[in-house]
Amino acid sequence: MQVYNHKKKSFTFLNTKHHSVFLISRLFLGSNEVNIATWGTADQSTSYYNWYAQNALDGKRYTCTNTELQSDPWWKLDLMKTYSVNRATITNRRDCCESRINGAEIRVGNVSSNVFSNPVCAVVSTIPAGASFSYSCHGMKGRYVFVNIPGTSKILTLCDVGVYVIFPDNLATGRTVTQSSTFGHWSADHAIDFNPGLTNSWSSCSSTIVQTNPWWRVDLRYIYRVSRVVITNILDCCAERINGAEIRIGNSLENNGNNNPICAVISSIPAGVSSTYICNNMEGRYVNLFIPGYSKYLTLCEVEVYGEVLDNVEAVLLK
Ligand SMILES: *[C@@H]1O[C@H](CO)[C@@H](O)[C@H](O)[C@H]1NC(C)=O
Repeated sequence: MQVYNHKKKSFTFLNTKHHSVFLISRLFLGSNEVNIATWGTADQSTSYYNWYAQNALDGKRYTCTNTELQSDPWWKLDLMKTYSVNRATITNRRDCCESRINGAEIRVGNVSSNVFSNPVCAVVSTIPAGASFSYSCHGMKGRYVFVNIPGTSKILTLCDVGVYVIFPDNLATGRTVTQSSTFGHWSADHAIDFNPGLTNSWSSCSSTIVQTNPWWRVDLRYIYRVSRVVITNILDCCAERINGAEIRIGNSLENNGNNNPICAVISSIPAGVSSTYICNNMEGRYVNLFIPGYSKYLTLCEVEVYGEVLDNVEAVLLK
């Protein structure tokens, strides 16, 4: 018997007489807290020499941002779309002036042009030199995360900023994915990495090379009734590549799964948009994206699959 362990996110095996019994239940669906800060682009009110806004996103504690001495300095992260922010982290400078961060405000909102129009998530009292502190934002929604210090004669320095979002597991999360060919670093698993690829699509979208009949497939491992599939299209180029892609769902691997029944044919998806396709509980273990024809690329920035396990049973016998 295999039992899913949530803390370890893995399965343990228990011997039973003739069967492996796999427990499938709502317990199986977990959630994923992901630091999405590097998915965005940073800006700040002023920059002191090469202490750029982006330095807070490079994962290095010794490269930091720094504004000039000014009134109301701010640092801004544009996440390119709205997210519910669970928490934010700030890493303070370690080599000097750690009290400069005192009184900084963390804000989450939608107003790019005016920091003070965005609601406050938390106010920093102090952070020890070189330390990282976490501030709960309780799901505040916004496209922008600001850090600002209200007042005159202030300097804002940040060595690292994290922005954590909780994503629901969809059925594709953590599953095995394959594609007919891979263009450079555009591997198949980039389509299930939670990142919609609105910046740096090359590191967060999948793509085949140009070929005949390209396809991408996720093996859900068990048979589900698929209610809907959500496809996110690439933002920064070639949105029309997705036109004509078929979403196919079923249990056969004949023709790499591309002969399974069709849930939907994608006519088009605007650049950077996530479109939902209703599949009316089609049953299957494999979900394919398939573009029939010559000289095609299949590029996917995110694929989400939602549904229920077949027959809504709590345990399924295998083999
Ligand atoms: C930002 O916009 C989203 C989507 O329009 C909205 O749900 C959210 O409440 C907005 N956030 C704020 C702080 O107004």
